[in-house]
Amino acid sequence: MYFELVFVFDRDDNGVRFGILKRDPVMIFYSSSRSPQAALRKQISYLKKGLIDPSLHYRSQDQSKAWNEVFQAHCPVLSDPSFTQIYQNLFSRFAQESRQKSHLIGLGCGTGIKEQWLARSMKRHGLPLHRFSAVDVSETLCKMSMKRVRPFSVQSPQAWVIDLEAVEELRKALDQGDQTERRIYTFFGLVPNLAPRTVLRILKSLLRPQDQLLISANLAPVRNETEAEEEKAVKRILPQYRNRETKEWLSLLFQEQGISRKVISSLKFEIEKERGLRSVVVRAEVIKDFEWELGAKKIQMKKGGRLTVFQSRRWTPLRFEGWMKRNGFNVKGVEMTTNREEAVWWVER
Ligand SMILES: C[S@@+](CC[C@H](N)C(=O)[O-])C[C@H]1O[C@@H](n2cnc3c(N)ncnc32)[C@H](O)[C@@H]1O
Repeated sequence: MYFELVFVFDRDDNGVRFGILKRDPVMIFYSSSRSPQAALRKQISYLKKGLIDPSLHYRSQDQSKAWNEVFQAHCPVLSDPSFTQIYQNLFSRFAQESRQKSHLIGLGCGTGIKEQWLARSMKRHGLPLHRFSAVDVSETLCKMSMKRVRPFSVQSPQAWVIDLEAVEELRKALDQGDQTERRIYTFFGLVPNLAPRTVLRILKSLLRPQDQLLISANLAPVRNETEAEEEKAVKRILPQYRNRETKEWLSLLFQEQGISRKVISSLKFEIEKERGLRSVVVRAEVIKDFEWELGAKKIQMKKGGRLTVFQSRRWTPLRFEGWMKRNGFNVKGVEMTTNREEAVWWVER
């Protein structure tokens, strides 16, 4: 626990705005899944399948900063007002149905910008957030989001620095907390990077009946859901990934783990289809045999071997909703950007 000085704005009974300077206790819980040993075990199990564990791109402070640069430079959320609008619209509808004692749990909250919009909207509708929990594998990003949401929440924020693949640990901890709170989960920007079965495992483990979920998906921007349309649509959004900032961010992992550019190729960006779902896949090729030292283990990397460094799945709206419904989630609302590149759903179990 540490203390932070925060300036909280409020209004008195006459509607006059005032600020209070508070010395705020900030609770941060560190999960064992975030320990270097657990991270290594996970990395090795992914590596054996030719994959980079997606959470590894956000762990260090430099990676969190580099990801934030990608977000600032290429994420249409900040440049196209329709991206902000879909969140604001859905949050406003959601806030109108808010109840007392809401506990907002931002899963993979990143910088917390969308959780801040939601909390602000709830405050505007007269039912401020009771509590905010930041949940992210990155401590830096947890701290950023707690700062952002703090002024809109009645209680001090808390953070869980955890790998969501160890979701049971989070569920148990939440179950030991206040059971009278109404839980609102956000799950923004994670659906593209996590395997669909992992997404389901996380959501099914956490969501109880009556809990609310706000979840976004990046889409293949199609007008009608034909194969040819989908392929063209994913090609159109490729530049959002194939750019200098994304290459720098994804390459940081190799630099930080001491993997020389002499043994691994530059990153290649491709479109792939798996079980009907198209993805932008970033790959690197091993150009010279080498041993990847991971703690006490050494993984043999063979020349010609291919590594999937990053994957962004692009759903279509019908496919995503069908999948949610088949898995027991009831869609209560949806908003989609005018260019059909992103949608956000309000879901209940
Ligand atoms: C694409 S960003 C989205 C951030 C934010 N929710 C938004 O929409 O702007 C993905 C976030 O999820 C976090 N993340 C990725 N894999 C994770 C995992 N396995 N467990 C916990 N957090 C994870 C990253 O640190 C990052 O903050």
